[in-house]
Amino acid sequence: MVTIRTERPVDEAAREALLDIAYGEIRHSKPSAKLRRGRLPAEGLALVAVEKSKMLGTVRLWNVSAGGRDALLLGPLAVHPEARNRGIGAALMKRALAEAARRGHGAVILVGDEAYYGRFGFSAARTGALHLAAACDPARLLACELVPGALDGAAGPFRATGRRLPLPALTGLGALARGGHPRLIPRAA
Ligand SMILES: CC(C)(COP(=O)(O)OP(=O)(O)OC[C@H]1O[C@@H](n2cnc3c(N)ncnc32)[C@H](O)[C@@H]1OP(=O)(O)O)[C@@H](O)C(=O)NCCC(=O)NCCS
Repeated sequence: MVTIRTERPVDEAAREALLDIAYGEIRHSKPSAKLRRGRLPAEGLALVAVEKSKMLGTVRLWNVSAGGRDALLLGPLAVHPEARNRGIGAALMKRALAEAARRGHGAVILVGDEAYYGRFGFSAARTGALHLAAACDPARLLACELVPGALDGAAGPFRATGRRLPLPALTGLGALARGGHPRLIPRAA
């Protein structure tokens, strides 16, 4: 039986391994990854799907300003290739959206295929005036309002607004494991 639960610190290595399998190294250079770098996920909104203590799925959401409106950026969502088409992605999405609504968030935004995310209420209808990156296809910038009108007037770029990772965790392998890039810190002379 698959269980969806909040992520724990001990899940970090399995989550990163799963993301490597699902997305490969390119995930670190995506525009949305840059918004996540150096930040912690939104409170209570890092979820994993586990079966017999094996991690099969992950999703995290991040606090952002979306063109001047508070929102959550969802991603990455990933399900292990051997566990796909069993509804695990849908279960993670539904749980994440319900938890975001319960916590009072007004809108969730992501970059992805409307053919998949449309079933959860995502579309490009509210994102036309938002700008993530030149390389981001506007048709893949999707939003779901949890509170109608939450994205009214949202226009312009995104900005990370979430809690920052503690500084030591930003360096070296700790950063890699958290989805960031290692940063060489010159030794003090
Ligand atoms: C996308 C992903 C999270 C779906 O997880 P999952 O647990 O297999 O999803 P579910 O079981 O809830 O749903 C499966 C359904 O989604 C469909 N689906 C999966 N990816 C899709 C996509 N990019 N576009 C359209 N439909 C998609 C499947 O064909 C299947 O359709 P069906 O219900 O008609 O059979 C998973 O495939 C994954 O991790 N992919 C790697 C990351 C990725 O490619 N993301 C791109 C999505 S934008």
